[in-house]
Amino acid sequence: MHDELEAVVVAFDEDTGVATLTLDRPDSLNALNARMRADIVSGLDRLAERDADAEGVAVRAVVLEGAGEKAFCAGADINEFSGSSPGAFEPHTMRDSVSEFPAPVVAKIDGYCLGGGLELALACDFRLASESSRLGFPEVDLGILPGAGGVQYVARLANPAVATELATTGEHITAERADEVGILNHVHPDDEFEAEVTGFVETIAEKPPLAVRAIKDSGNVAAESDLHEGRKYDRRVFATLLETDDHAEGARAFAEDDYDPEFTGR
Ligand code: COA
Repeated sequence: MHDELEAVVVAFDEDTGVATLTLDRPDSLNALNARMRADIVSGLDRLAERDADAEGVAVRAVVLEGAGEKAFCAGADINEFSGSSPGAFEPHTMRDSVSEFPAPVVAKIDGYCLGGGLELALACDFRLASESSRLGFPEVDLGILPGAGGVQYVARLANPAVATELATTGEHITAERADEVGILNHVHPDDEFEAEVTGFVETIAEKPPLAVRAIKDSGNVAAESDLHEGRKYDRRVFATLLETDDHAEGARAFAEDDYDPEFTGR
């Protein structure tokens, strides 16, 4: 499957269950305009439909990337939002559709990842970056702050001091520094980045998909509620997963030393 929306290209590999969403405005460093935000939501909706129609699970992981050589995403489209009314700028639906998408979403950061682009990456479940990538919140220089919760999320992933420093200075930090403070999962040398991301995503895609999805949700619960709520969630879902074919298949494969189990997402 290869779906070209106006500002996003959606590809889906039926064999691996891996989908790719490419932000496709390279001439503007993939700046997020209203069209792109809507396309991200509808691209994910289309993938979710494919999933609902499948027996078991169709989509096992989504890679979110930017087109071109220079950027994952250079933030909100400044030409569009400058002068627009506050109501016209609504990034929350997009964030929710990424974080609530049933399968994990991996941000593949290769180049600039700024402002709303960094907030979009923060909505993803995993963030991998090439070494030459630069991350930051430049909004302060436009007299605003990151409007989609950027400071809040970095404060939780790293700490409040790092979050407020990033947003106050507007500095573009290196991927290495972003990794050190806890914003990224991994940084890889530029010439190894493509292969590392592919390997990472394949690993996820081969795992039992219902467990992977439950773990994604568990991570969201951990980020947004207290320990008591989180433990309650995990206990409830653990009981449900024990009933799945995938659990039976995992247990069988372990008992029989079979290193190639077939997980169906049922
Ligand atoms: N919105 C709209 N257009 C943007 C953009 C954004 N956020 N970021 C980059 N672009 C456009 C530039 O206007 C330029 O368009 P042009 O070729 O028609 O002039 C094109 O993308 C390339 O950007 P350019 O600035 O020439 O590249 P650079 O390598 O010199 O600098 C950045 C790269 C990312 C440092 C610089 O583009 C930048 O600071 N962008 C704004 C980032 C920002 O403030 N984002 C938060 C918005 S709230």
